[in-house]
Amino acid sequence: MIIVLLSVNPPAEKALSVLHRPRRLRRTAGVRSLVRETQLSVDDLIYPMFVMEGENETVEVPSMPGCYRYTLDLLLPEVAAVYGLGVKAIALFPLIPDHQKDNAGTESYRPNGLIPRAVQAIKQTVPDILVITNVALDPYSSQGHDGIVQDGTILNDETVAVLVKQALVQAAAGAAFVAPSDMMDGRVGAIRKALDAAGWINVGILAYSAKYASAYYGPFRDALDSAPKFGDKKTYQMDAANAREAIKEVDLDIAEGADIVMVKPALAYLDIIYQIKQHTNLPVAAYNVSGEYAMIKAAASQGWIDEKKVILETLTSIKRAGADLILTYFAKQVALMLQ
Ligand code: PBG
Repeated sequence: MIIVLLSVNPPAEKALSVLHRPRRLRRTAGVRSLVRETQLSVDDLIYPMFVMEGENETVEVPSMPGCYRYTLDLLLPEVAAVYGLGVKAIALFPLIPDHQKDNAGTESYRPNGLIPRAVQAIKQTVPDILVITNVALDPYSSQGHDGIVQDGTILNDETVAVLVKQALVQAAAGAAFVAPSDMMDGRVGAIRKALDAAGWINVGILAYSAKYASAYYGPFRDALDSAPKFGDKKTYQMDAANAREAIKEVDLDIAEGADIVMVKPALAYLDIIYQIKQHTNLPVAAYNVSGEYAMIKAAASQGWIDEKKVILETLTSIKRAGADLILTYFAKQVALMLQ
């Protein structure tokens, strides 16, 4: 009888005498998965979606291939489909027609407005999905700013009063979390107080705490037709150069009653996500914003990068930095990939 001894890894003639060989833990896919430190899961993804007035229409956002604005009738089956893929939360943003925009964003708190109607319809169609609504004036502002404009400046406290009304209407419609993205001072506390006074004690606040004045928002402003009509957002959104200030903003939002704090954008701010994760025991969210999405889509469409691998690597980096939750336009695609 002949016995053939097969050895996949024959010992080297002269083994180096090293105690630690990190490559042992990378030898096979099995070992790698055993020791993997970060798991990307569809459980942690929030899918931002765009809704518009009208019927039976979808419009692809030119700078965000694969992302659409939906009329409500077509949004509902799409929400059901993404829920079916395991996405448990969506963040809703409206495209508001110009004739409904004004400086005070009054359309933002009309009880029968597009967002409250959409939230109600979604909760009827897909009752278990969590709907997160955006609290800010920019989609409703004739000036394209997140607050009321007077003499070229953005009024803080007057804006907060409108944001409170907007949050109350969204809570009444069925939002699980309201998400102030405006960066006005004191808005989290004012919204928490008003929600509690109205009995919405279980409606949470996902605070855009460290939101930077970023050029990565460009495609989103195309999607909503919400670009500022003058100037920029630097008097309320944060300076890209600042990190300690992000901690200050997070501390204020926590003190004012935020349930989840967020860093936005994600990729140019991974250090901020990391620091905030070390700093607080609250869940930390990160927004993988429109420009980050567009760059990957653009390079992939040229065949310059492997789209799927780059998406997974990118989202994993955001989790590894410390994000518990990720808002990402890739949520549906990733849910399909991870199935
Ligand atoms: C505005 C808002 C913005 C985004 C979400 N809410 C843009 C802005 O501040 O101008 C950007 C999201 C993205 O780029 O994906 N309140």
